[in-house]
Amino acid sequence: MSSNNFLKEPWKLKDLTKNEFEFLLKDFSCKRHPLVENFLKKSAWTFDKRDVVRTYLWIGNEKPYLRGFITLGIRSITLPETLSKTKRKEIFKGFRKEQDHIHSFFIAQICRADGVPKEELPLEKFLKFAFAICKEINEKVGTRLITLDVAKIEGYPKLVKAYKNYGFKPLFEDSKFVVLYALIG
Ligand SMILES: CC(C)(COP(=O)(O)OP(=O)(O)OC[C@H]1O[C@@H](n2cnc3c(N)ncnc32)[C@H](O)[C@@H]1OP(=O)(O)O)[C@@H](O)C(=O)NCCC(=O)NCCS
Repeated sequence: MSSNNFLKEPWKLKDLTKNEFEFLLKDFSCKRHPLVENFLKKSAWTFDKRDVVRTYLWIGNEKPYLRGFITLGIRSITLPETLSKTKRKEIFKGFRKEQDHIHSFFIAQICRADGVPKEELPLEKFLKFAFAICKEINEKVGTRLITLDVAKIEGYPKLVKAYKNYGFKPLFEDSKFVVLYALIG
């Protein structure tokens, strides 16, 4: 099997044994974003077992074997009072003045491992995968808002820009995060 085929589809963390996952973690790092690395090493396994979120892993056949991962979930968002009418209309497909809570698909984590070339696993590949899953759920039960948080670590505006290149827009921000959104359909 070529390394490309191997990398085509991510694996569900829930389909791995704890030993297999721990083996993959041995040479995995994400120095650009320690919070993301920490999530994978400390929380991902338990969160998956508790059905809080789902983590998907791209696994290759050379080191680092774990090439990247994405974590997806669902969360409720409270929209700020200051949100513009235009954005409200866009999100609710019509103006809902009284509604300030909404469910959203949540891209909780995205990471290409240290040492993996950008061409192999660019942001586009992660987002295509996430959108395909959200679209599938949207077809079956509705919900069209997708959100993600960019932590205000050093250099975070570059990350915001990268997401904006794929259609994400700012929803609101606080002292710790910029919350971005995109819509299905
Ligand atoms: C998020 C990620 C998949 C995006 O990949 P990409 O868009 O294909 O390509 P890049 O890695 O070149 O990132 C785009 C830009 O964001 C910057 N960037 C990426 N991660 C960053 C981080 N954690 N902190 C600050 N800047 C970051 C890159 O330096 C790059 O800037 P440049 O255009 O000036 O070169 C990848 O950068 C990554 O895995 N980063 C580490 C983990 C992470 O930050 N996850 C996102 C949490 S919101």
